Amino acid sequence: MSVAAPAPLRVALLGCGVVGSSVARLLTHHREDLSARIGRPVELVGIAVRRLGRDRSDVPVDPSLFTTDAADLVTRADIVVEVIGGIEPTRDLLLTAMKSGAAVVSANKALLAEDGPTLYAAADDAGVDLYYEAAVAGAIPILRPIRDSLAGDTITKVIGIVNGTTNFVLDKMDTTGAGFAETVEVAQALGYAEADPSADIEGFDAAAKAAILASLAFHTRVSSAQVHREGITDVTAADIAAADAMGCVVKLLAICERVATPDGDAVSVRVHPAMIPRTHPLGSVRDAFNAVFVEAEAAGQLMFYGRGAGGDPTASAILGDVVEVARHRVNGGRGAGESAYADLPVLPMGAAQTRYHISLDVADRPGVLAAVATAFADHGVSIETVRQQVVDTDRGGQVEHGANLVVVTHRAADAALSATVAALDALDTVREVVSVMRVEGE
Ligand code: HSE
Repeated sequence: MSVAAPAPLRVALLGCGVVGSSVARLLTHHREDLSARIGRPVELVGIAVRRLGRDRSDVPVDPSLFTTDAADLVTRADIVVEVIGGIEPTRDLLLTAMKSGAAVVSANKALLAEDGPTLYAAADDAGVDLYYEAAVAGAIPILRPIRDSLAGDTITKVIGIVNGTTNFVLDKMDTTGAGFAETVEVAQALGYAEADPSADIEGFDAAAKAAILASLAFHTRVSSAQVHREGITDVTAADIAAADAMGCVVKLLAICERVATPDGDAVSVRVHPAMIPRTHPLGSVRDAFNAVFVEAEAAGQLMFYGRGAGGDPTASAILGDVVEVARHRVNGGRGAGESAYADLPVLPMGAAQTRYHISLDVADRPGVLAAVATAFADHGVSIETVRQQVVDTDRGGQVEHGANLVVVTHRAADAALSATVAALDALDTVREVVSVMRVEGE
């Protein structure tokens, strides 16, 4: 008596751009290996695209697999891979897919960060997996390590360089001394920055990733709207030079921190440029690479590094999820779902504890340093280091004596630090606040 071969697991792909075509190609080329790893044949049953008729000869699949009817396709699959992005109609499609019993693998950071709980609830209701490793830091395995490998530990901090475009721009500013605008143009010409780079350079992309990282790390729902966000558009060549003088480099950081408050633990989640020592593991992340630095109570410090974007690197993370959810199908059961039991409060930015580096051009006369120090003291901010350099400026033949003061603070509430900067700016003896930048990575 012959035993019927198990029916293949049906994979539907939503989207066939750079990442989607890599997923289709790798799934097709490695189908036998992937099937062996899963323990059951896996088959691509359809690719939803916006328009038929485009030349897709680079995608080695039967052209009849392309369809514009995504709503139908998601009901004919065991696993739906979503790489179309955006909020709608994507959310609707994923909800329909899960309702129809399909597991979902998504790279959609914006949707997960804006409305993750709706998707997690749908996954729970349907008893299916919802995996999204590719949504944060492309190829780098970071979400499953946080969700699974570190599930027995207490994560205290996650600091990530999670946006390659901004890292490329800041790295080039650091190595060339050029300004922000001209460096963005170079990044666009080289294909590192989009024609409209605002999602990257204004920090929206990193903020969505920070929300996802914080939610998983702290078992707490954090949406992108709760993430304090500052992009890199105001970072100047002077900021980069000031960082360099301290042995630091400027990075756009996604920072997720567990903070002890008098009322119990809370979380601080923020995205902003900051100086970080060149000797810190994140200080050596060059070009468009991503990295995520994790601190946990028992594990100590961990560093994850790799490519955060691109077709094949992102497809690697997606296919890893496909194999994982497919294994669950074959063996029964699901992976870990959402864990938001801790439900920690999310602190406003003003309450976050940070350090500042402030560079000031001041008059060089008695009492100036005392006035500057008083501005810090008045706001309860403790100074860690002060460096002064006398600077003579030639103003049309007249030499004006002045000094450049660089102050680095101890950790203090961000609101107190920004009030200190406002007070410094208002002092007669302060000619110019040259650079203000947060400092991370002690
Ligand atoms: N635009 C992102 C970046 C990649 O520059 O890193 C996708 O998240």
